[in-house]
Parts: sequence; C-alpha cells; structure tokens
Amino acid sequence: MAAATRARVAHLLRQLQRAACQCPTHSHTYSQALGLAPSGKTTDYAFEMAVSNIRYGAGVTKEVGMDLQNMGAKNVCLMTDKNLSQLPPVQMVMDSLVKNGINFKMYDNVRVEPTDRSFMEAIEFAKKGVFDAYVAVGGGSTMDTCKAANLYASSPHSDFLDYVNAPIGMGKPVSVPLKPLIAVPTTSGTGSETTGVAIFDYEHLKVKTGIASRAIKPTLGLIDPLHTLHMPDRVVANSGFDVLCHALESYTALPYHMRSPCPSNPITRPAYQGSNPVSDIWAVHALRIVAKYLKRAVRNPDDLEARSNMHLASAFAGIGFGNAGVHLCHGMSYPISGLVKTYKAKDYNVDHPLVPHGLSVVLTSPAVFTFTAQMSPERHLETAEILGADTRTARIPDAGPILADTLRKFLFDLDVDDGLAAIGYSKADIPALVKGTLPQERVTKLAPRPQSEEDLSALFEASMKLY
Ligand SMILES: NC(=O)c1ccc[n+]([C@@H]2O[C@H](COP(=O)([O-])OP(=O)(O)OC[C@H]3O[C@@H](n4cnc5c(N)ncnc54)[C@H](O)[C@@H]3O)[C@@H](O)[C@H]2O)c1
Ligand SMILES: [Zn+2]
Repeated sequence: MAAATRARVAHLLRQLQRAACQCPTHSHTYSQALGLAPSGKTTDYAFEMAVSNIRYGAGVTKEVGMDLQNMGAKNVCLMTDKNLSQLPPVQMVMDSLVKNGINFKMYDNVRVEPTDRSFMEAIEFAKKGVFDAYVAVGGGSTMDTCKAANLYASSPHSDFLDYVNAPIGMGKPVSVPLKPLIAVPTTSGTGSETTGVAIFDYEHLKVKTGIASRAIKPTLGLIDPLHTLHMPDRVVANSGFDVLCHALESYTALPYHMRSPCPSNPITRPAYQGSNPVSDIWAVHALRIVAKYLKRAVRNPDDLEARSNMHLASAFAGIGFGNAGVHLCHGMSYPISGLVKTYKAKDYNVDHPLVPHGLSVVLTSPAVFTFTAQMSPERHLETAEILGADTRTARIPDAGPILADTLRKFLFDLDVDDGLAAIGYSKADIPALVKGTLPQERVTKLAPRPQSEEDLSALFEASMKLY
C-alpha cells in the first residue's frame, strides 16, 4: 500500500470510529430532515439526465466491429471475465472484430465482484496497451472494471483514490477526455451499460464503494438479448433482484429538490440526484417488467420473451437510478458483500466466497421499505400493487408492511436464502455491518427518511430472517 493510501485509510478508520460512537452528537448519519436544508445551504432546484446511447436487438452484437471501424479504432481492449471468455457472447464479439479487421487484445482477468486490487490490475493492462477504444462484454463486474481502466489510463498520473467517491476517496470531478467504450451487457441487472458508475470492493475497509461520474459512462451500450439465454438461473434471479431494487429505491429516493447542497457549478451536481419526474418513469416501467417477467426468466432458460424483457428492464432501471440514485438497500449491501466470510453463491463460477450484488441488496428490502414507507406511503403502496399486492382495501399507514410482505413472498417464490443469517451473518456482526454502512452517505443520504445508527442496527437485525 502506498504511504498516501495508508494515511488515508488510517484517517478513514478514525472517522469511522468516531461515527460509531453512540453519543447524541455522533449518533445520526443523516441530519437533513425532509424539506429542510442544512443552515447556510440551499437545496437543489434542477436535475440532469445523462445516459449512454443504447442499441437493442437480438444479434446486434455482430455490429460491434463496424462500430469500432466507424470510430476509427486501431487498437482495441476487449475486457471480460474468465468464465465468459469461454462462452458464446465473447465469441460473437471476437468474430465481429475479426470480420471487420479490428486489432484487439483481450483482458479476461476481470474479478467477479471486483476489488480495488483487481481494478488496478486491469488499469495496468490498459495503461500498457495504449488503447484507443474499449469493449466490455459481461455483467456489471466487467463493465465497471472497464470503465475504471479507461478512466485511469486516460488520467495516468492520478492516484487511485482521486476519483473514488468521498469520504473513502477524494471524489474529484473527471475533466480528462476518455476513450470510447462499448458495453455489451450479458446479465440483466446492473444497467451499468447506461450509467457513469463503477463499483468495487475496497479491501482495506472491507466495504464496497465506487466511482461515480457522467464522464465514465459507456459511449454505447449494445443490448443483445441472445446473451441472456446462457445465464444460469441464480445469475438471472440475483441480477433481476438488482433491477427490482434499482427501481424501488430510485422511485422512493429523496426528491431531487430536497437534496442539498445545491451545486455552485453544474460539474459538481452528483450523478445520483434524488428521485425526479424523468427517472420515475423509467423506474416504474422497469418494475412492471420485473413483476411480469422475472419469475419466468428464472425458471425457464429458453423463455426468450421473458429474458429479453428483463434485459431491457435492466437498462430502463439503469437510466432511472443512474440519475436518481439508490438508497438504503444499496448502502447496506456494500458491507454485506464486503464482509463475506464463506458464502459460496450457487451458479457463480468463481473460486472465492461472494455474496452476489443482487442478493446483497434484496435481503434487506422488506426491512428497508417498512422503515421508509412513512415518508412517501403512496409510492410504496403503488409499487406493492405493481408487484402483485391487492391494495384495494389497503390503508395508507400500512403501506410499508404491505410492500414488505409482497417482497417476502416474491423472494420466497424464487427460492431466495432466508435472510442474512442464511448467508453467514449473526447478531454479533451487526456493529461491523453498521460501521460499513456509515461511509455510504452518497446513497444513504438519498433515503427519504434519515437514519441513526440504532435504526441501521435494527434494519440489519430485522433482515436476519425473512420468512
Ligand atoms: N455500475 C453500476 O451502475 C452498477 C450497478 C449495480 C451493480 N454493480 C456492480 O456490478 C457487479 C455485479 O454484476 P452482475 O450482477 O451483472 O454480475 P457479474 O458481472 O458479477 O457476473 C456474475 C456471474 O455471471 C456470469 N455471467 C455473466 N453473464 C453471463 C451469461 N450471459 N451467461 C453465463 N454466465 C454469465 C459471470 O461470468 C459471473 O460468474 C457488482 O460488482 C455490483 O456492485 C454496478
Ligand atoms: Zn445495484
């Protein structure tokens, strides 16, 4: 570890210890009451939609070589993970590159659920290769790794933490030009082909964090539903839960005009801005597709209609949450993934323990939405109805429990592990899980309801068992 990084980690650990103090001064992670701005600052008054160009169609992958030719690319980096490098999606991309005479080098060492170390290995490869374009073929792990490689190869003198979200990193705005990146998603989950977000596990702190900047979003997302036919059922289920939570969290996030501070320059307006009328449309539409197709897509690998629709839903939810943000399920998921002990995820062809991202977000969802519902009960009830609840005689104050019950049933029907206890956590882990959530303010502050450390502890405890 470089001296600067060591000093920063020590500083962060001190901050976390202070934040873990239970005294009244330190016990609130979020001080902004709904509708009130911290003194001296005003809330935002505008929001911006940024999204990659996307092209959708069965077999559209064969166009990637022509796209690179049209861009004038001469030396391309093709990124993927070891498992996918043996599967048809990568073969289809390589065929198209060869057919169109594109010179490329393949990096297939992407780590499933990447870490700062695995990001840095990919960055080294990118720096050495002096590439003029990138193609990422895979799920969020591959697309995010490729975004980071493109960013740091384009800004070779930057320290790794420079662009990482504060408070873990410096959160500097990106002002260097990046090379074109074409993302070919092979899961139906992250929507990373549409977003300026790259997530990794920061190993020194055992929590996930990321880089969030419109500048790193792919130039083009090639969404080819044929790739989804190769996904094993748990990858379909877990990545589908990611879509579910992206939609639910972005739709119930703090509205953008209640977020503070108001940026003094548009370059510092965050990618995650709070719920807004445009993101709302994408979130609700994605949720309807999840309700209609996710179970079918999990249960039947040949159901092209269901799998195609989930592939689109992933992009739709990405457009929504990529601009509105997510909140507590995601904020709490980062230590759930980061502190993994021995859990081995079925269908994930990797040699390290991992809690798949979609699973780590969905396990707390019943507790989270029970907690947040009082701030926007109508929205919570509306989403419960979309997910199949009969809300005709429902009372507004019951919105939270109704959505939570609907989610529990949904998860039970899809054979999801019975809560955090089933993936290796116990009550004794709660302080560490809370501590790992505290630095996730970029998302936890977007929750519609402020939360104290005691609230976070209670949410983790309520998520130990679901059924
Ligand atoms: N950038 C964003 O906006 C964003 C949003 C949410 C999550 N994420 C991050 O994305 C990562 C998770 O990504 P993911 O859920 O897409 O999965 P993934 O990329 O981690 O892949 C999961 C597994 O599925 C396999 N796989 C992928 N596509 C396949 C296919 N078509 N056929 C067969 N096997 C296939 C992979 O080889 C791997 O073993 C996490 O690190 C998460 O934090 C990023
Ligand atoms: Zn997610």
